[in-house]
Amino acid sequence: MEMTEEDSRIDEIVARYEGEPGMLIPMLQDLQAELGYLPAEQLRRLAKRLDVPLTRVYAVATFYASFRLAPKGQHEVTLCMGTVCHLKGAPAISEAICREFQVEPGGTTPDRLFTFQPVNCVGACALAPVMVVDGKYHDHLTPESALEVLRALPAEPEPGGEGGAK
Ligand code: FES
Repeated sequence: MEMTEEDSRIDEIVARYEGEPGMLIPMLQDLQAELGYLPAEQLRRLAKRLDVPLTRVYAVATFYASFRLAPKGQHEVTLCMGTVCHLKGAPAISEAICREFQVEPGGTTPDRLFTFQPVNCVGACALAPVMVVDGKYHDHLTPESALEVLRALPAEPEPGGEGGAK
């Protein structure tokens, strides 16, 4: 099998921790820092290089919320599900977003427009319910106004993707 750039990256990361299977978490953190997520192909290679079952690698990768198994979307959408936002209707907003954009909480839309991350309290309870889009706060939301914000998100062309029209 041909060795790709990513494969040699795994070898490098494994070497960095002297191939110590107990250092699986920092290895996954490094991999994610370098690639932005944990591609299945690389997890397979990592398991093989460490000689640990793939199920163990996945158990760790799925246990910690900070690891992502899919690439990030072009935009970062964080919906507060803290107590105050929850009471003021955040669950209905979350459902509306998931339904309209076919995304799971913690996942990325199929067109990679955005990654949707529900979190606990973003520290702006007086403005509840709150959603943060690419660092910008949107307050006093309803399901409809939240959808409007997201529908207006610009889709950037994928690097190397089709088109190229400006
Ligand atoms: S609970 Fe949502 S900002 Fe605090």
